[in-house]
Amino acid sequence: MDKLRIAGGRPLEGEVRVSGAKNSALPIMCAALLTDQPLALGNVPRLMDVSTMARLLSQMGVAVERPADGAMVLRAAEVNDPTAPYELVKTMRASVLVLGPLLARCGRAKVSLPGGCAIGQRPVDQHVKGLQAMGATIAVEHGYMHAGAARLRGARIVMDLVTVTGTENLMMAAVLAEGATVIENAAREPEVVDLAKCLSAMGARIEGAGTDVIRVEGVRSLAGAAHRVMPDRIETGTYLVAAAAAGGKVRLAGAAPETLDATLEKLREAGARISTGDSSIEIEMSGRPGAASLRTAPYPGFATDMQAQLMALDSIASGTALITETIFENRFMHALELQRLGADISIEGNTAVVTGVGRLQGANVMATDLRASAGLVIAGLVAEGETVIDRIYHLDRGYEALETKFAALGARIERIR
Ligand code: UD1
Repeated sequence: MDKLRIAGGRPLEGEVRVSGAKNSALPIMCAALLTDQPLALGNVPRLMDVSTMARLLSQMGVAVERPADGAMVLRAAEVNDPTAPYELVKTMRASVLVLGPLLARCGRAKVSLPGGCAIGQRPVDQHVKGLQAMGATIAVEHGYMHAGAARLRGARIVMDLVTVTGTENLMMAAVLAEGATVIENAAREPEVVDLAKCLSAMGARIEGAGTDVIRVEGVRSLAGAAHRVMPDRIETGTYLVAAAAAGGKVRLAGAAPETLDATLEKLREAGARISTGDSSIEIEMSGRPGAASLRTAPYPGFATDMQAQLMALDSIASGTALITETIFENRFMHALELQRLGADISIEGNTAVVTGVGRLQGANVMATDLRASAGLVIAGLVAEGETVIDRIYHLDRGYEALETKFAALGARIERIR
């Protein structure tokens, strides 16, 4: 199993090019199931999760090609096996995103229940409830959801809570349904908007993506399209927080600054100087960061996917920060690993009390989930001496060329195979 070795203590200087968004690429790849025509995508990141999704779609009969770096062409001329097996769903929960499109296209689907996940329970009841409102029957047998519907009907769906993939699944089901669907309390995440743009390019009729009420007027069929995946706001945020922690001056190119308001606000609070262009962000930081308290929330609130990175920053800040996690119930596992590096963190319920220390010390740590690992990399970059991070397959799921990009900024970081 690969590890990362980091020798901390160097400021970061230079430019990084942001990759396409994982959380946008995954649902958009599933949208290919909705048409027998080719869907040509650009800015698709090279990530384990993207390969896993490609494998899942291939198993169903979708032809997936990667003609050039960042390009991907998917064609679901026929879908011969609308099944998402446990082996793939358990490694990547986003596999559940095939459920809506499969039902819409094939009238049936067999999708494994995702099961537990390291960061919380993450049920799919809202996906199921919405599809049932659209006329689907869904039975759970032997760990699989067996779904069926002659043709989905438009419906008014009020989500009990804000769910990103739930909103995306229902939106993809609704585009081919008979009549209008209204999704209330919908997720407003930029990735939902990116998916809506791609679906619209395919001929779907969607209004309100980016607000909490999405209205979809079903159409008979969709066509192929070309779409460029939006920049990854979490990757962008991760490099920004790393620069704020390690100090220095970093420019993020190919970014979407308008999707990062909450993160930029926290970084400014911590003392970073930030300027934004149309598609770039520059950050400059000198001296010790100030503590920045936060509370995670659905977009446009502070992203739970940036929480671990901010905790790493707060670990070395002057002052005490309160970090409250409201989205996932078990998303503080990185706190224990940060403590191994010398951080002063205590957990009280869903709040972490982080008292900044003058310096962290390198140690061996273990990555527990994707974003937790990113927090550990940031801590390793500022710790004195050597930090070795084990189980970095979590990082490979969601960060393209992480060690290459950090090394280009002057970090001493290498992969040990
Ligand atoms: C997506 C993102 C993930 C991010 C998360 C929250 C993708 C591929 N992943 O995950 O990176 O951390 O949003 O921003 O886009 N819930 C239910 N019932 C449901 C669905 C969700 O109770 O049917 C709960 C979950 O347990 C969680 C909360 O709702 O507590 C939000 O989860 P959700 O937005 O669905 O997360 P994902 O879409 O899985």
